[in-house]
Amino acid sequence: MEEAKEDIHFAIADINPEPIGIFTLPLKDHLKYKKSLQLIWDDAPGELFQQFEFEPYTKHLCNASNQNLFKAFPILNELKLDLEKIVIAYIQKIGYLCDEIVINSAWLNNSQKGSTLNYHFHSNSYVSANYFINFNPEVHSSLTFENDRVTRQSTPNGPIIDILKSEDKTIYTARNIGLDIKEGQVIVWRSHQAHGYYIPNKEDNRLTLSLNTMPKILDNGSYRFNIDV
Ligand SMILES: [Fe+2]
Repeated sequence: MEEAKEDIHFAIADINPEPIGIFTLPLKDHLKYKKSLQLIWDDAPGELFQQFEFEPYTKHLCNASNQNLFKAFPILNELKLDLEKIVIAYIQKIGYLCDEIVINSAWLNNSQKGSTLNYHFHSNSYVSANYFINFNPEVHSSLTFENDRVTRQSTPNGPIIDILKSEDKTIYTARNIGLDIKEGQVIVWRSHQAHGYYIPNKEDNRLTLSLNTMPKILDNGSYRFNIDV
């Protein structure tokens, strides 16, 4: 009698993961920060605002290179300390030694109905973060990250082989990796990671705080320098 053939075992090992930190502020703290940030947005002097041609439905506060939200509004110091703690925890969690960082840029983004955000990354920054201040996932677009493992056929830098993809996208075929973000959360990523959103905002006042950070001391074991902004 013939022996029954056993099934072939199959597994996929996901290598080269990209760490995206998801931190949730205590509700009480978030509501306090939200109130003062909304007041700042409503009352800030005109010269601190920016609007860029390529983002017609979004305005920014303190998004010029010589501006920093935390320098312009020292009342936000408690939030600044929380965000510093968050970024340090992220850097340590992914395995690096760092116990002090500098928030070299911080600004607010307020997006209206119809806004989108083209994929971009932040240079002159090590770790970036986004705090979701006024954000209803039912009407405000979530932040997505570009799946840089999917071939970018618009600008190939080598031979391309492409076959049809199934309707159900996997993490190997999806162009965008979205997160289930809630208001009061802080999303943290390595600054070279391309991020944005292409589904237009359904309602006004999607309010977020962006920040760029650097370790205070950059030391690779052979060379070092300190950051001071
Ligand atoms: Fe950004």
